Amino acid sequence: MRLNDDRKEYVAGSLDDSALFSDPWSLFGAWLEEYRATGVADATAFALSTVGPLGQPDARIVLLKDVQDGSLIFYTNYASKKGHDLAANPYAHALFFWPSLERQMRISGKVEKVDSAMSDAYFHSRPLGSQRGAIASAQSQPISGRPALELQFEAAETIAATELQRPAHWGGYAIRAERMEFWQGRPSRMHDRIAFTHTESGWSAVRLQP
Ligand SMILES: Cc1cc2nc3c(=O)[nH]c(=O)nc-3n(C[C@H](O)[C@H](O)[C@H](O)COP(=O)(O)O)c2cc1C
Repeated sequence: MRLNDDRKEYVAGSLDDSALFSDPWSLFGAWLEEYRATGVADATAFALSTVGPLGQPDARIVLLKDVQDGSLIFYTNYASKKGHDLAANPYAHALFFWPSLERQMRISGKVEKVDSAMSDAYFHSRPLGSQRGAIASAQSQPISGRPALELQFEAAETIAATELQRPAHWGGYAIRAERMEFWQGRPSRMHDRIAFTHTESGWSAVRLQP
């Protein structure tokens, strides 16, 4: 495989110094809406990085489900690998890559579980199959084979729609943003980078060299 000659120029946009004075959540919202408007599948997907108890990083894709009070909200199984990582070290990094807009977005901060009423509301807003899937799957645990997994789902299918309950080990997390960095590709690798850090007096912003 030869990859050395794969390259492109980044020409889709720019981020001028006025961004230094903008509210990072407004800018994030505008960028995400612009990306969603392209019609791309899973536009809200981001790579969630966690760090395990021995300091090993790990990452996986999850879907952003809300932005509330300066936090990114996503849902998962609290007993999964990521759940164990976050129990040991409640900090996470969210990485969005929006290639058609030549943008990258990095957000990091402390993580907390959302309250159970919010998790219940989201759980019951999901299609019934997804609710049953969350009940059936002990996420990240090994299983003997696909047939055993199907049996677990069939057991969840016997639960009447009105009886479905969110498992206590499934729910939302909120990543409270402490740092947000916007990256816009530019020609000749002279990209724009604006990084916001949350301080006691609000957000402070700097331009970083590419
Ligand atoms: C497009 C896409 C969206 C996903 N969304 C979620 C999600 O919102 N929540 C989730 O728990 N897993 C989601 N997954 C699965 C995760 O990437 C991962 O396989 C799973 O959460 C187990 O990760 P862990 O073992 O590191 O905990 C998604 C995967 C993809 C590819």
